[in-house]
Amino acid sequence: MNQKVMKAEVTEKFIELFGNDNLANYFSPGRINLIGEHTDYNGGYVFPAAISIGTYGVAVPRADNLVRVYSLNFEAVGIIEFTLDELIYSTESHWGNYVKGYLLKLIEAGHQFSHGFELVIEGTIPNGSGLSSSASLELLIGTIANDLYHLNLDRLTLVKLGQKVENEFIGVNSGIMDQFAIGFGEHGKAILLDTNTLNYEMVPAEFGDYKIVIMNTNKRRELADSKYNERRAECEEALKRLQKKLDINALGELSEAEFEANRELIGEVILEKRAKHAVYENGRTLKAKTALVAGDLVNFGRLLNASHQSLKEDYEVTGLELDTLAETAQKQVGVLGARMTGAGFGGCAIALVKANEIEHFIESVGAVYKNKIGYSAAFYVATIAEHAHKLVNQE
Ligand code: GLA
Repeated sequence: MNQKVMKAEVTEKFIELFGNDNLANYFSPGRINLIGEHTDYNGGYVFPAAISIGTYGVAVPRADNLVRVYSLNFEAVGIIEFTLDELIYSTESHWGNYVKGYLLKLIEAGHQFSHGFELVIEGTIPNGSGLSSSASLELLIGTIANDLYHLNLDRLTLVKLGQKVENEFIGVNSGIMDQFAIGFGEHGKAILLDTNTLNYEMVPAEFGDYKIVIMNTNKRRELADSKYNERRAECEEALKRLQKKLDINALGELSEAEFEANRELIGEVILEKRAKHAVYENGRTLKAKTALVAGDLVNFGRLLNASHQSLKEDYEVTGLELDTLAETAQKQVGVLGARMTGAGFGGCAIALVKANEIEHFIESVGAVYKNKIGYSAAFYVATIAEHAHKLVNQE
């Protein structure tokens, strides 16, 4: 859906529901990760970018302490309502838990609110697609609260609060990549982020005759959250075993050679494979950044393929649907590389495809997928977009 149409639709719904037209518009993107998967909670590098599909919101302050929110994606849920003194997780609050969680984290950080607000949202990120619909929502709420309550918080603070909502309120032990990409993304740029120091570099995402195609398995990441927490725990255990001899704080500090010289300390095949992925993926991320800057897209593509293989064999977070998409994509004419993106277990993959081959690519990969999996995949050409922000009139 086109950005202007979406903005008009959300605004119209707002006026219909809440009858106020003195309102403000906001947009928060989704994200893809080019490479650097499952490295962000291991103190490694990630290389994500914000994308133009995301979440729109329209809000106005209320005089009392009520918060009323409505999503065009969950019309059956209707208006979700709560006061500022009941910021407690509850199943009935549905997606409104993200709003409650963010407000609670702001209060815990020392902010006070004397009134609530009304909010209507609509998202174009398919839920559970691995393109960070939840981080997009978190940063949307952060941006709105920052504006409505005149908090003057910088982007990094908003990003860190979003991660806290995910970790402490929702219960997914995720790293900082998604919120960071959504809080810091810029048009046409990818972000090389060192998750250990939070130093980052904006890197022009220039793909010449090629484009990034997002391929959605349309398989929701059921069980993903528990598996995600399990992978994280496995990495922590591997680290603990390595720390018996090595003076390190994170797997991301190890070079490939250091890992190879010490891997037997881990003493369990599964844990060794998880740690190996974390260490080698980190190296691949830096190499991919160098290749992209040098315009060496062939090498960049090879690194994407190697990343997928490692996520499949060593980290074991892909599954038949993602493997079918990525591996079929890798074999197509005009494709330099393909890999899953995000947490895995379903969700999306990305491919670097020559622009004039995209139509044919979608047809071929789509047919193989449908034939093998029994239902269709979806494809979108990615546009790399701007961080979460308030929309000005022309936008
Ligand atoms: C999810 C998490 C991120 C990151 C990725 C895997 O998207 O939210 O923090 O760990 O998985 O790279």
